[in-house]
Amino acid sequence: MGLLEQAQLQKNQYDEEDQSTNINIDSFDEIQGSGLLAKANLSKIKKPIPSPKKVENRSELLKKFYEPHDLIEEQTGFGWDGLGKRRIIKLKETSEYLYQVIEPELKDYEFEIKKEIAHLFKMLADINVSGDDEDEQKKYLQEILDQIVKDNDIKFYPVEKKEKTDKKSFSEIFQFKKKNKGKSKKKSSTSPIESIKKIFDKKQHAEEKERLNRIAKESKKRIYYHLFREFVGYHRIDVIMKDEGIEDISCDGPDVPIFLYHKKYDEITTNVQFESPEELNSFVVRLSQICGKQISIFSPIVDGKLPDGSRLQATLARTVTKGSTYTIRRFSSNPLTPIDLIKYQSLSLDMAAYFWLAIENASSILFCGGTASGKTTALNALSLFIPSAHKVITIEDTREINLPHDNWIAGTTRQGFSASDDKTGKDIDMFDLIRAALRQRPKVIMVGEVRGKEAYSLFQAMSTGHTAYSTVHASDIHTLIQRLENPPIDLPRALLTSLDIIVFQNAIEIGKKSVRRMTSVTEIIKLDSETNQLIFMEPYRWISKTDDRFEIRTGSKILNDIRLQNNWSEQELDEELERRKTILQWMIHTDKRDYRVVGDIVFDYEKHPEELLLKAKQELNA
Ligand SMILES: Nc1ncnc2c1ncn2[C@@H]1O[C@H](COP(=O)(O)OP(=O)(O)OP(=O)(O)O)[C@@H](O)[C@H]1O
Ligand SMILES: [Mg+2]
Repeated sequence: MGLLEQAQLQKNQYDEEDQSTNINIDSFDEIQGSGLLAKANLSKIKKPIPSPKKVENRSELLKKFYEPHDLIEEQTGFGWDGLGKRRIIKLKETSEYLYQVIEPELKDYEFEIKKEIAHLFKMLADINVSGDDEDEQKKYLQEILDQIVKDNDIKFYPVEKKEKTDKKSFSEIFQFKKKNKGKSKKKSSTSPIESIKKIFDKKQHAEEKERLNRIAKESKKRIYYHLFREFVGYHRIDVIMKDEGIEDISCDGPDVPIFLYHKKYDEITTNVQFESPEELNSFVVRLSQICGKQISIFSPIVDGKLPDGSRLQATLARTVTKGSTYTIRRFSSNPLTPIDLIKYQSLSLDMAAYFWLAIENASSILFCGGTASGKTTALNALSLFIPSAHKVITIEDTREINLPHDNWIAGTTRQGFSASDDKTGKDIDMFDLIRAALRQRPKVIMVGEVRGKEAYSLFQAMSTGHTAYSTVHASDIHTLIQRLENPPIDLPRALLTSLDIIVFQNAIEIGKKSVRRMTSVTEIIKLDSETNQLIFMEPYRWISKTDDRFEIRTGSKILNDIRLQNNWSEQELDEELERRKTILQWMIHTDKRDYRVVGDIVFDYEKHPEELLLKAKQELNA
């Protein structure tokens, strides 16, 4: 039985119950009809729903949106029927940028209608918000909503008050179709003047009807916008969640607006704010549910993944934080590629060519840096250089890595079967996954982030001939070594030498802008047996804020090894690097930045380097 039929069956049951139970309709003289709507209204009267207009804690920060400003850019077409939009405005006085979400506002009667439809929808059906086919969800929601509107004969326009009563009855609000219950139609003879009047009235009536239909159409759109936002969207942050330019969304509580991290405008304040602690609490509960997790006073912190791949971190009010909070790290289905990183000057053309050659020749790399310094992004971007035929296994807590390789198994850990921090038999952590991965004979293992004992397995994998890529939270080489050598990782220093390259990523403030730079590329040469010290080489380094560029420093052991393996002279090595630089330059020049396109070109270069180079040169010189 389809959901629609189920809903209908449920509705019929309600209708039957209505007839069998003796409801004292007289005491609720506003209620008319005995269908589902009446039932919904009854429960509404019994349990008052707070008014939407009650604004408890509107923040002072929101006043900024009324100050004189310039419109910088506008993007429209968000949500149902594309009615939502967002603007970037710049305050005239302080030059501050603000993020303004503009959504259709509901008039009072529209709000009432929306509330009732939502109420009916909740009674009739439910939508699986964690399902990942958004189009299916939308289609299903529309079917049900249309059915509800039809069954209850809901009209989407207000009625001017005809009676001298202040109270608006539900029949007025919903415009029940007044059924003609066999009233005898009186026929009377009419005078010519009356006939003319009637024709005139008829015309007026038609015009009025048309006007109302127009209003109803617009109202329906607005109401549907809000219903869709509520049931298959992200409520107040729906527009923000669909804006490609956003990296992070932070909600610090119910009494402050939501802050964003925008790719172009950095940190930016929005005009979106939850209107009450309760509203925020229920949104946080819903967000957690969407991730398939449960947030409660018992377990007030949730770390999860939203269907689009974004990462959610949420806390529930009055347990660990005063108000409920959440942070969403947006997932980009179109990840940054080496071409983007070169364009953003996060690394130089020389460095990209170096990584291309190094990765093709199976060098293992660890990406280090602080929170949100771009470690995972760099890992993902450079992994496009992994040869196409290599079997790749990725292991992550939440899926972030996106590869164009065919022979790729993406594994994610599973947690949450136990209430305590202890692992249960049903939890699968990174350690388990790495062990399982090694049995699948991969050429390359990528681990999203190493924190614990899985690092040990990863290094062992490297020492047994696998190529490994991972990220770790450490700001410099000393902190890194300290983290790796101490509990819980406890890595013996000798194992560290199986790693080839350590990359340091940093988010740096240059002027007023925050940029990402690959501040150092360090190669591990060997462990000096006498002093027990690791010997490093730093082929590339970023200079400084005032001199924002990269310098090529000492030579590279990796490149030298590759040269020897291939029996190349120094010049031949340089030529190979130059060839790759030309290809990269061509990709930048022709804006071939999509990760699949970059992947294809890398795969193509493996097979037909000369032809590709010729094409690149021709197009560059054209
Ligand atoms: N080189 C870059 N240029 C511009 N934006 C970048 C760059 N690298 C990363 N970003 C952006 O910065 C944000 C954080 O990046 P990423 O997730 O890679 O950081 P991270 O260091 O892995 O963070 P975490 O410590 O949380 O794992 C992302 O939204 C990403 O799009
Ligand atoms: Mg990361």
